[in-house]
Amino acid sequence: MGRKITANLYMTLDGRGAFPKYPGSDRVMKEANDFWRDMWTSRFDDVTTVIMGRRSFTGHRRVWTEKARTPDDPQYLIDYSRWLDRVEKVCLSTRLRSPGWENSRVMKGDLSKIVAKIKKEKGGNIIAEGGPRLILEFIRKDLADDYRLVMQPVVYGRGPNYWGALSKQRTLKLLSSKTMEDGELLLHYEPVRGRWK
Ligand SMILES: NC(=O)c1ccc[n+]([C@@H]2O[C@H](COP(=O)([O-])OP(=O)(O)OC[C@H]3O[C@@H](n4cnc5c(N)ncnc54)[C@H](OP(=O)(O)O)[C@@H]3O)[C@@H](O)[C@H]2O)c1
Repeated sequence: MGRKITANLYMTLDGRGAFPKYPGSDRVMKEANDFWRDMWTSRFDDVTTVIMGRRSFTGHRRVWTEKARTPDDPQYLIDYSRWLDRVEKVCLSTRLRSPGWENSRVMKGDLSKIVAKIKKEKGGNIIAEGGPRLILEFIRKDLADDYRLVMQPVVYGRGPNYWGALSKQRTLKLLSSKTMEDGELLLHYEPVRGRWK
């Protein structure tokens, strides 16, 4: 298949790309849980590129580099930051001139063309890591090979929305589902193409 692209989505029940508080949401984990393993740790070996919109990129640059870690942080977060520093990052932006983060580049223009270009380059699999606006574009243009979705048990009612108008329905096949201890759902889907598109 070549380089596979996974879209990562973290959303509330009403589809908002937010990080809400709910019972258990601020639990300090010593080790990676299912959510973290499925979204990240288990992908360290096969994913070599992470694509982000400018807002997500600058947010990650602020809080997820190894420099931002402290010695008290659990090892899995330190490992994640090291991996994110090391992996190739693509920041989509019309405004940013220079990425200001190692192993990164800025790209702009038609998302289908950008994805086609990256897929032709040498490398492993790819994660599209938000935000909601970018992921909606992936859904609209049917660019993702699979979707990993974390659904938080909150109706948030405001903020950027992963769901938006589509010219036709998207049909997804559920590959796996897990329930987390604080009520989040971990859902893994792939698009169903052909007559169900
Ligand atoms: N729940 C989550 O997982 C999650 C994840 C990420 C962010 N968020 C939240 O969502 C909010 C940001 O949402 P967002 O969807 O607006 O952010 P985003 O997707 O990270 O960034 C949007 C920006 O990406 C750039 N962009 C996207 N496609 C482009 C293209 N084809 N060519 C050039 N530039 C392109 C544009 O930047 P320029 O203006 O530079 O052109 C656009 O303003 C934040 O509040 C954040 O906390 C939530």
